[in-house]
Amino acid sequence: MIQKLLSRKASCNVHGQDSSYFLGWQEYEKNPYHPITNPTGIIQMGLAENQLCFDLIESWLERHPEPSGFKKDGALIFRELALFQDYHGLPAFKSALAKYMGEVRGNKVSFEPNKLVLTAGATSANETLMFCLAEPGEAFLLPTPYYPGFDRDLKWRTGAEIVPVHSSSSNGFQLTRAALEAAHQRARKRGQRVKGVLVTNPSNPLGTTMSRHELETLVDFVAAKDIHLISDEIYSGTNFGEPGFISVAEVAEGRADVAGRIHIVCSLSKDLGLPGFRVGAIYSENEAVVSAATKMSSFGLISSQTQYLLAALLSDEEFTGKYIVENQRRLRERHDLLVAGLRRIGIECLESSAGLFCWVDMRHLLRSKTFEGEMELWKKIVYQVGLNISPGSSCHCDEPGWFRVCFANLSEDTLNLALRRLQTFVHSYERGAGARHEPARVQFLLKWVLRQPLTSDRKSER
Ligand SMILES: Cc1ncc(COP(=O)(O)O)c(C=O)c1O
Repeated sequence: MIQKLLSRKASCNVHGQDSSYFLGWQEYEKNPYHPITNPTGIIQMGLAENQLCFDLIESWLERHPEPSGFKKDGALIFRELALFQDYHGLPAFKSALAKYMGEVRGNKVSFEPNKLVLTAGATSANETLMFCLAEPGEAFLLPTPYYPGFDRDLKWRTGAEIVPVHSSSSNGFQLTRAALEAAHQRARKRGQRVKGVLVTNPSNPLGTTMSRHELETLVDFVAAKDIHLISDEIYSGTNFGEPGFISVAEVAEGRADVAGRIHIVCSLSKDLGLPGFRVGAIYSENEAVVSAATKMSSFGLISSQTQYLLAALLSDEEFTGKYIVENQRRLRERHDLLVAGLRRIGIECLESSAGLFCWVDMRHLLRSKTFEGEMELWKKIVYQVGLNISPGSSCHCDEPGWFRVCFANLSEDTLNLALRRLQTFVHSYERGAGARHEPARVQFLLKWVLRQPLTSDRKSER
């Protein structure tokens, strides 16, 4: 009855909250691991958060108390900040952000502050671009596997559609012209108008960076089809090794045929680990897009005290230079720890050089090589092993048996514990002991869990 009082948009199901990606988080919330108060709880490895460098930011805050204390040159500027809310953003913050974006990209490209639109995170940036570029029912092509949040962020309020661009492990899930053409044709056959392609580079969930060849293929494709390209570069600052990260801005430089159709999304949620601050931006050479998106940004502004604080932090070149290098070093160390630990258990990862996660190949552990088999394994890993990881199906992966495992949101001790738990499980699972040797409670839980409908069942119910 209450539901009936809501609008169609508010009560429809495209929010995607029932995906296994979000269900895993809910299970974690019910029984979160804590080394002392809940040592048998679920370990959260499904959250792409970066907690590895908080000490660096905290120490900067201690050395620079003025910006977080609403002060400038010793004087309180509380009133100024309390009243300021121009949706063009604080000029000092936009300049600092533009400089930082160049720095993260090795200063191979530069960004002009007046082509930036500030948004409350990349979530808001991506949705705003959808509003600006697509009518309801029009489509964007998205290479799979992709970030599960896109089903919610891109479609829900805008009415835009996502058409998957299929990929395969046989070439490391790389993007090809043939796959782009096939997705474009599929959409056209369904009567959908394709307005663009949206890629995440570096990729979530793969942790890979796009090669220059892939980027050139992509840019040529959007030019040939006369469509847009959104490059979500939220993970640009997490590239910790070779191959390095190449921004689409670098590849498109000097190409007048694509200048107005490429839009870059960035955010401070991943490299600086500040998702709670809600800081994102759109960068575009297209004046009409910048103007429309700036007007729309009033629905998701960054608060003025956040802009004021981060303007000071990001304009401190000594800090940002050291932070970028140290963050990459710590991410590499964590990544290597996870990859080596999994390898000892006989589990391989897709080779990667960025992101806060690994794309883990557990195909050999599936009882059946289907998405039902993947959900069965996932449920065992969540409830029996006590690890929340994200199944590939929640990222629309075409092959069952891949999982995204995050490594930067937990301590090294917790990561080692997770590896030990997984080792015990894999060894008994491979010996075929399976559920027979489990304690009664776990057996009961496992049975109960496995009776729950699979995500694919739920989808077909709708
Ligand atoms: C590819 C991608 N885009 C956007 C987002 C949303 O980021 P934000 O916290 O900046 O809204 C995420 C978060 O995980 C992401 O992985």
